[in-house]
Amino acid sequence: MSTVLIIGATSDIGFATAKKFAANGFNIQLAGRETSILEPMCSDIAIRYNVICTTHKFDVTLFDTHEQFFHSLATKPTVTVCVVGYMKDNEMVIKSQAETLTTINSNYAGPVSILNIISAYYASQQNGTIVGISSVAGLRGRQSNYIYGSAKAGFTAYLSGLRNKLFESKVHVVTVLPGFVNTKMTADLNLPKLLTAQPEDVGNAIFNAVKKKKNTIYVKWFWRWIMLIIVSVPEFIFKKKKL
Ligand SMILES: NC(=O)c1ccc[n+]([C@@H]2O[C@H](COP(=O)([O-])OP(=O)(O)OC[C@H]3O[C@@H](n4cnc5c(N)ncnc54)[C@H](OP(=O)(O)O)[C@@H]3O)[C@@H](O)[C@H]2O)c1
Repeated sequence: MSTVLIIGATSDIGFATAKKFAANGFNIQLAGRETSILEPMCSDIAIRYNVICTTHKFDVTLFDTHEQFFHSLATKPTVTVCVVGYMKDNEMVIKSQAETLTTINSNYAGPVSILNIISAYYASQQNGTIVGISSVAGLRGRQSNYIYGSAKAGFTAYLSGLRNKLFESKVHVVTVLPGFVNTKMTADLNLPKLLTAQPEDVGNAIFNAVKKKKNTIYVKWFWRWIMLIIVSVPEFIFKKKKL
């Protein structure tokens, strides 16, 4: 039976993704900072879907622990989904060096560090799938969100390069650009209902992308076109907009 590792599993998107894979017969490894939150989630998955579920303590900003974390997994996952993300108010973030570094480390440097380790293992096995959740915020910097957005831009470029590097090793890499999703991260934002996906939509889209070996997915189809328009606006106009 195949196993999927969800890194950042306390998130609504992580839990929805774990349930979708479990419903399709995968054993589940839930990794995150708070194993006390993950344990009841894991029991629920194990009972509901009759699969093996284990929890694993992991903090993406504790770089020195990454190697040991992966080597301590008794069963190596065949699919790894990196869901970790951190987004705070941009004005607050730019005034705080600590918040700026946390944003960069949580969305870019940390995911790159752990995925370098896992992808090297997959390359050695000539097998495996990596899914990274990035963001449309990385496709063009805006004044309201450019620290988070630039970290996600780096992560999107990393995933693209990784996919290219690992193609010959038969390792597949999926980039997920979800658009707006109704989760804890966006609970304080007034998101337009029609443009907003549910965590279950993201879980379903990730499962289908892994199965069909898709490269980059937008959860709701129209985000591809919205972003095409946004990136096409000439810079001399874009820079004057309050976005
Ligand atoms: N919601 C949206 O509209 C939206 C849109 C585009 C992209 N995304 C991306 O989707 C992913 C999931 O986000 P979400 O919306 O489900 O929000 P969320 O509930 O806030 O999820 C963020 C996850 O990242 C984990 N995390 C943060 N810092 C971590 C660290 N240092 N080490 C380990 N885990 C850490 C959180 O764990 P804790 O529970 O320990 O804090 C949580 O599990 C993120 O990558 C986010 O950037 C979301």
